[in-house]
Parts: sequence; structure tokens; C-alpha cells
Amino acid sequence: MQPLYEGKAKRLYTTDDPHVLRMEYKDEATAFNAEKKAEFENKGKLNKAITLLLYKMLEERGIETHIVSDIDETNILVKKVDILLVEVIVRNIAAGGFSKRMGVEEGTPFKTPIVEFSYKSDELGDPLINDDYARELGLATPEECAELKRQALIINEVQKEFFAKCGLTLVDFKIEFGRPSSDPSKIILADEVSPDTCRLWDVKTGKKLDKDRFRQDLGGVMEGYAEVLHRIEKAVS
Ligand code: TMP
Repeated sequence: MQPLYEGKAKRLYTTDDPHVLRMEYKDEATAFNAEKKAEFENKGKLNKAITLLLYKMLEERGIETHIVSDIDETNILVKKVDILLVEVIVRNIAAGGFSKRMGVEEGTPFKTPIVEFSYKSDELGDPLINDDYARELGLATPEECAELKRQALIINEVQKEFFAKCGLTLVDFKIEFGRPSSDPSKIILADEVSPDTCRLWDVKTGKKLDKDRFRQDLGGVMEGYAEVLHRIEKAVS
């Protein structure tokens, strides 16, 4: 069966329901706008399980997500959404792109979380934008930008607290939102939250347990992801 859409980490397929798609998590990993590529056995399975548990937890806290139901190890059913081309990044501690751009040492905590927008465009390398860019590029209205920021900060607080219970520090993360085809007036959390899209450090040792292990050639990439899943499973049980 041909996918309706294939991204770097997931594929989407149609279903009998026009408002529902099947999302398949792939084992491929990319970094630095796909300059670096690799395949990791079990990545799809681990990221699917992690996203599902986190999204269930967020739903219980009043955040609407695209999840419809679980199917199997690497597939879930999701609401069909029109993805907003605004990636929302929340940062609690300086790392990655922030440290590089601003010359701030990795690990420097922020007093208040930073919310950042980037334009979801592989050709342009996901450039940093603000509300005015989003408005003029027709990506999101000022009201929608405010809504993205509002939801992102709630998601940050809920996840920060939850990851702390898992002995993990939520350094930063990227999320994507969409307008459901069944109700385009809404904006709901879509895509995924996994070690591909978050930075997670062990609280005690500071060990990186996310995709930075791949970006920085630290080794043990899937061991890190499996450790994250194991701790989440323990915290929700
Ligand atoms: P950055 O520090 O490289 O800008 O990344 C911030 C967060 O966003 C980090 O948790 C990794 C995540 N991220 C993605 O999920 N996809 C991307 O394409 C990039 C650049 C970052």
C-alpha cells in the first residue's frame, strides 16, 4: 500500500474513515536536516510506545491530541489533520541550536521557559521565525500563534513534572500542531513526542538519553530510548 505521505520518521496511510489516518513509525533516523542518516532497529517501536504513553497522559491533563487508537508495535490511528507549518520549540535549559546561536553554554537553565517558532521547511532548514513572519507567510494567524504558545507552555509544565518523576530532566522539545479535518476550527497536538524530538537527561548523572546520542556520535542510541520508555512505563504503572 502506497503511503499518503512519507516524512523522515513516519509514514501516513489512508483508512476507511476519511478523518482518520494510520501512522507508521519508521526505524530511520536523520539529523542536521537529513545530512546525517542511519537506521536503528526498534526505533519506530520505541518512539511509538513513548508517544502513545505521553499523549495519553497529556489527554488526561486536558490537552487534545491526534491519537485515535493503538494498532500494533509500530502503527497507530490518528485524526487526519492539516499540519501547521510552524514548529513549536520549548526550552527549559540551553542546549543545541540555542547554545550554538547565542553562545550560551549547554546546561545553563532559563528562569522562565523559552517558546520558539520555526518554519517547517526542509528546503530552508526550518528557519527561526516569529509571530509576524507566521502571519505574513500565511502559516498561522496572531490568535493561532498565541494558542500554540499557550498549549506549548502547558504541555511543557505537564511533561516537565512527569519526566521529573521518571528521573529525567526535560531540557527542550519540539512539537507540531494540526487542524483536524473533522473540525478545522480547532488546533490539536499532532506528530510525536519522543527522544527524537526532545532532549532528556538523566537527573543524577546528566547522561543524554535522546537523539543527541546520534547527533553527537555518543553510541548507545537505542539503549537511551529504551531507558526512556522503561522509566515512563514504570511511572505510569
Ligand atoms: P535545537 O536545539 O536543535 O533547535 O532543537 C530543539 C529541540 O527540538 C530538541 O529537543 C530537538 C528538537 N528538534 C526536532 O525535533 N526536530 C528538528 O528538526 C530540530 C532541529 C530539533
